[in-house]
Amino acid sequence: MRSLLVLLLVAGAAHAGGAPDPEALEHLVKQDCGSCHGLTLKGGLGPDIRPEAISHFDAETLSEVVLDGIPGTAMPPWRPLMSEAEAAWIAEYLLTGEHP
Ligand code: HEC
Repeated sequence: MRSLLVLLLVAGAAHAGGAPDPEALEHLVKQDCGSCHGLTLKGGLGPDIRPEAISHFDAETLSEVVLDGIPGTAMPPWRPLMSEAEAAWIAEYLLTGEHP
């Protein structure tokens, strides 16, 4: 009982600190990014962002695109909604197609 409580506290603290939560981020990529880029990310209103389509980006540039969006286009900035660590997680996830 006691160790469960400690675990819950640790999990809560990690979340409050902005550490990436893989399940929540995977959900966000499918639902929110997917609403423009397609549920499988192969393109829709926004372009194909599957690994082979974005291989010209490095992880750092990609997380900047996610954080700042692409001005003058429908690609919105996500900085108000996520931490830099979360954007870095998403960049890695998009580039590899797997959980970092
Ligand atoms: C409201 C629609 C919309 C949403 C939501 C959206 N995007 Fe985009 N995204 C676009 C559009 C449109 C472009 C193309 C902009 C352009 O003309 O260069 C784009 C471009 C991009 C690019 C650059 C692709 C390339 O090859 O140049 C990446 C990477 C990207 N989006 C990732 C994401 C991620 C990750 C999310 C979710 C966190 C997301 N987008 C959510 C509309 C959207």
